[in-house]
Amino acid sequence: TVSPAHSASTASTLITNIAALVTNDPSSGDGSPLGLVQDAAVVIEGDRVVWTGDQSKAPATDNRIDAEGRAVVPGFVDSHSHLVFAGDRTQEFNARMSGRPYSAGGIRTTVAATRAASDEELEANVTRYLAEALRQGTTTFETKSGYGLTVEDEARALRVAAAHTDEVTYLGAHIVAPEFAEDPAGYVSLVTGEMLDACAPHARWIDVFCEKGAFDGDQARAILTAGKAKGLHPRIHANQLSYGPGVQLAVELDAASADHCTHLTDADVDALAGGRTVATLLPGAEFSTRAAWPDARRLLDAGVTVALSTDCNPGSSFTSSVPFCIALAVRDMGMTPDEAVWAATAGGAAALRRDDVGRITPGAYADLTLLDAPSHVHLAYRPGVPLVSGVWRRGERVV
Ligand code: NIG
Ligand code: FE
Repeated sequence: TVSPAHSASTASTLITNIAALVTNDPSSGDGSPLGLVQDAAVVIEGDRVVWTGDQSKAPATDNRIDAEGRAVVPGFVDSHSHLVFAGDRTQEFNARMSGRPYSAGGIRTTVAATRAASDEELEANVTRYLAEALRQGTTTFETKSGYGLTVEDEARALRVAAAHTDEVTYLGAHIVAPEFAEDPAGYVSLVTGEMLDACAPHARWIDVFCEKGAFDGDQARAILTAGKAKGLHPRIHANQLSYGPGVQLAVELDAASADHCTHLTDADVDALAGGRTVATLLPGAEFSTRAAWPDARRLLDAGVTVALSTDCNPGSSFTSSVPFCIALAVRDMGMTPDEAVWAATAGGAAALRRDDVGRITPGAYADLTLLDAPSHVHLAYRPGVPLVSGVWRRGERVV
């Protein structure tokens, strides 16, 4: 129940006349993983959800908003992006669309542009792409360094990121810095030594691009283990461009997430199914590199927890749109609309080991996305249409 006396900051707001409310609480509504409630209402107080249920049973509140028969989903949780960068790679994209393959070497182009940029330019870019994401319903996002690759430039990227989110990831091990091309072991020492010391205070997570041409399994283990010793939690760019040790290493180290998961053996799938590590699928990358899609169906059928995120970056996936990723996952990766919406909300939260976002349940942050549609299924059914018509973040209406 909602107490009748409120200060302005804790005024309660009822959002009612919601045709379909996705709570992600299986004990609510229809009992499915989405916990779908029809003809629903939500009550927000301060920055939290305090009540959800049948609109006819809603408590009295200070304010009332009529959702006019539209759908409400949890704000999207984009658990994988690379927003601290400068420049773009339009030419590289153009070349790919005329048949050239994607190469991780393109990262060097963005490293050069990022190092040359001012703090203000980096800051303005992050602000711009976050505003874009918010307009498309994203209320929680993770973002990484990885385009600096010097002690100063990596620490700067993390400071810029940390001004916008708590979910900050140190990715000094994106590729070997160009200065260390002849001495990759020297670069690993830097990443696990002086660079880690400078970066750890600004980050929650440590990541490594475990791939041919980037870092092998032994280097990745050394980097993540050093990060863990400094209090950072691991996540891995794993099995994106080829088969490799990344996914099994992620499970071995109890990484929160193995990201990409495009090339998986049966042993990789078994490892994921037997651990806590979430498989984060990033279909924007396969779209933009014209690569084969990750097989979400295979992972889901094996019982693996799947998240969907954008991987927003100027090289392999220049989209900030979670709805776009949901549509791709449904059309091309074997996910049902329900599974894709779950993966982009509760799945993203699991990949960040959070239970206060990605769901609309009492006690969770009031992060809500109102769709100009009667059902969450329209996110896949109406691809490319700007369906997000309202966003509440931490209880505040921001769109
Ligand atoms: O997640 N795989 C490594 N990193 C990015 C691509 C970065 C780039 O091409 O600039 C990714 O796809
Ligand atoms: Fe990435």
